Amino acid sequence: MVACESSRWIVYWSKWIRDLMSVDVLSTRLRRHFSSKKIGLHEPQFNCDDSHALLQCLESSFVSSAGPQVDIFETLLCEFTGTRFAVATNSGTSGLHLSLLANEIGPGDEVLLPALTFCASANAILYTGATPNFLDIDNETLGIHMDALSEWLKHCSEKCGSSYRNRYTGRRLAAIMPVHLYGHIGDMDRLQEIADEYKLRVVEDAAEALGSCYNGVHPGNFGQCGVLSFNGNKIITTGGGGMVLTNDKVVYKRVKHLASTARVAGSAPLTHDSLGYNYTMPSLNAALGISQFKKIRRYLKEKRYLFDVYKKICSEIDGIEIFEEPRYCKSNYWLNNCVFDEPLDDIAGTIGRFAQDGIEVRAAWDLMPKLPYLREFPCAPIPNSSLMSKRLLNIPSGPKAFQSWNQADG
Ligand SMILES: Cc1ncc(COP(=O)(O)O)c(C=O)c1O
Repeated sequence: MVACESSRWIVYWSKWIRDLMSVDVLSTRLRRHFSSKKIGLHEPQFNCDDSHALLQCLESSFVSSAGPQVDIFETLLCEFTGTRFAVATNSGTSGLHLSLLANEIGPGDEVLLPALTFCASANAILYTGATPNFLDIDNETLGIHMDALSEWLKHCSEKCGSSYRNRYTGRRLAAIMPVHLYGHIGDMDRLQEIADEYKLRVVEDAAEALGSCYNGVHPGNFGQCGVLSFNGNKIITTGGGGMVLTNDKVVYKRVKHLASTARVAGSAPLTHDSLGYNYTMPSLNAALGISQFKKIRRYLKEKRYLFDVYKKICSEIDGIEIFEEPRYCKSNYWLNNCVFDEPLDDIAGTIGRFAQDGIEVRAAWDLMPKLPYLREFPCAPIPNSSLMSKRLLNIPSGPKAFQSWNQADG
């Protein structure tokens, strides 16, 4: 018994020391390459074009919903992503909320999503009154595991008229929300096949995936719609903002209508035909978006450069590798991730060690089913998510990190 206890301690301590050493080597190696003292995870970068665009918008006095900026920004995004329609919103979260509403998701419905994501994905589902179902992730894509999805649906679904319902809760299985985590896109062909079989609407959480493609196709072109985020830490930013992308005219019209308080166009007196939301993107933010958008191709190249140099460094350190884009996906590498061979026991200590070198790193989010307000909802077995959430470490990937790296190398 005592021997067993002490060997457990030896295993624990030797793993702790191993982790410590690989973290230490990685932090030291990265520090050597960065020229600036402090490196953020993903700080935005602004230049005179951005300031000029904002000033011009201020001078025009059209800072809210009037003015041409929102239309221009939407058109640019349609051209870039290949979707027919786009609606700019004041956040990615509000875009997700509207996308679900426009697909008629509401109380009595269930929406499937991965257990490892940012809470906004689950929150948007709850805002509609629907119930989230959490699924395991695939370690190769970080998105929903297709076998787990198929198993879950086989296990809990039963046919009910033209749709399927969860036999245990009695609620309609209405939609699936794939999340393109850190910019990586999973097997969208298989996902679509499963969605078709079970009559599920597909609303992509593409908040992190502007510029990523699966088989050459940009998010927003799969299923009913996809939603981008332009929060300050995203690949391009509007300060705060989002964009619903869709090829479905009905969905587009509903999103557009609901985003602007369901106002009836041209009505006098001004009238509203249903419960709407004040979710449109202000012109001021769109003006910044237009000027930021001019840099998207450069940012994508820089992110790939960072991925390449990180990959080389990680390949030289025991116990760590870099996360690579999945098959058929060309990722935007929004946030690069180191993947540790085994779960990190001391995440706070790891973050602290990098901080000593002025480098900001971040662990993956807490799993959704572990959050107190999400614990009660249906959840499939999530072994991959549980381990992977402790093996990932987000490392600096923004334009300032690239610049700092380049200067040090140059
Ligand atoms: C996966 C994911 N979904 C949704 C969102 C929400 O986007 P926003 O912050 O623009 O509301 C984010 C953004 O941070 C995200 O990372």
